Amino acid sequence: MTTDKPYLTGHYTPVADEISATELTVEGTLPPELTGRLLRNGHNPKPGVTPTHWFKGSGMVHGIRLREGRAEWYRNRWVHTPALGGAPYMTEHGPDLTASTAGTHVIEHAGRLLALCEANLPFELTRELETVGAFDFDGKLRGAMTAHPKEDPVTGELHFFGSSPFPPFLMYYVADAKGEIVHSAEIPGATASLKHDFAVTRHHVVFVEGNVTFDPDDRSGIPYGWSDQHPARIGVMPRGTDGTQAVRWFSIEPGNMLHVANAFEDGQGRIVLEGPTVDREGFRLSWNWWIGAPGRGTEPVTRSYTRRWVIDTAAGSVDEQIIDDLAVEFPTLNEEYLGTENRYQYAVSFPDERGYGGYGVVKYDRTTGARRIRQVGDARMPGEAVFVPAAGATREDDGYLLTVVSDLKQDASHLLVLDASGLDQVATVHLPHRVSAGLHGSWIPDTALDGNQD
Ligand SMILES: [Fe+2]
Repeated sequence: MTTDKPYLTGHYTPVADEISATELTVEGTLPPELTGRLLRNGHNPKPGVTPTHWFKGSGMVHGIRLREGRAEWYRNRWVHTPALGGAPYMTEHGPDLTASTAGTHVIEHAGRLLALCEANLPFELTRELETVGAFDFDGKLRGAMTAHPKEDPVTGELHFFGSSPFPPFLMYYVADAKGEIVHSAEIPGATASLKHDFAVTRHHVVFVEGNVTFDPDDRSGIPYGWSDQHPARIGVMPRGTDGTQAVRWFSIEPGNMLHVANAFEDGQGRIVLEGPTVDREGFRLSWNWWIGAPGRGTEPVTRSYTRRWVIDTAAGSVDEQIIDDLAVEFPTLNEEYLGTENRYQYAVSFPDERGYGGYGVVKYDRTTGARRIRQVGDARMPGEAVFVPAAGATREDDGYLLTVVSDLKQDASHLLVLDASGLDQVATVHLPHRVSAGLHGSWIPDTALDGNQD
């Protein structure tokens, strides 16, 4: 297909069909504790479809089933939503929350697999990636759900929000460990600012409103744009059912953060928040890449640098700085440390805005300040590196990083398993066809799935 859309070419060239394959070839030794599924979602329009925005492409979930040292199967399935068949999001009755790409993330909560896109309801999948249908938490979710919910590692609760360009702009939800929504509330003071991710610490919930906000004049199909007039802010509220009434909003420097790396309370009770962030020019270059417009950056996340905000709620102040000069995205961590101070942070590095630097898997040591980059080879691009703890792990980085690598030279893809400690290669699983570059995914151990685990 001839196209000038960057999100339909190279590493992003969509996969044309759904396949299933068994007994995949493994190089190296797969640790037996890697018994479960790596699921990875991404925008993958059907053949012949050219979406107006990368994020408008229909979601396809790729699954790799590992069990006790073997790679049992690979399969890929579109999330079969009404949008895959062409149903419009906007109708005469308002948005159709089931007309979803469902192409941003795929998670497990309470034994249920959910494909997510932030403008819509979740879509439930079977363990073999067939689509069950839209999931609204037994009618308790009446609006959209973020693609970046946070599962509390202590309580097992799923915290999430729903954002809308129209009132109520921001809803906050908590589902218990059994998957029942037990709390929902509107967040006072929120605006139509784009909110892709948020943070949950031990004691607080943190929302970020950047300079990207609802723009009804945008014609890309995703009606948002940068506004210098729209103030960038961080909203902080205590966790708990009464927290929303105590939310406080703090001004921050202009920018737009797509993803939270982590957030936590430090020893002085201040809230530390970190995540890759773009400035106005970075957003312009990225947006033009996402819509295939002239003047785009070389990458979808051009000029994306990690910032740290330290919010002192007692003093009412925010200290903010860029803490790294490497363009990165897809921050991940050992999720046992979600909400508490993490020593180690992982990410994917991208070429800089001139196209130099290549791709790599990055590991940060926040204690020493050390940064290590694992290159994956020429014409290869790693996806989000998902951390999986080792059996009986005793250290934070005692585990593995799982990343699906696209290889343009071979027109193929493989699952790369790295030792998270030294970023050494542990095993490679060869996949039966190339997997298009995508967004987010999860490792779902069999222990998270009750009953039949085939
Ligand atoms: Fe995301």
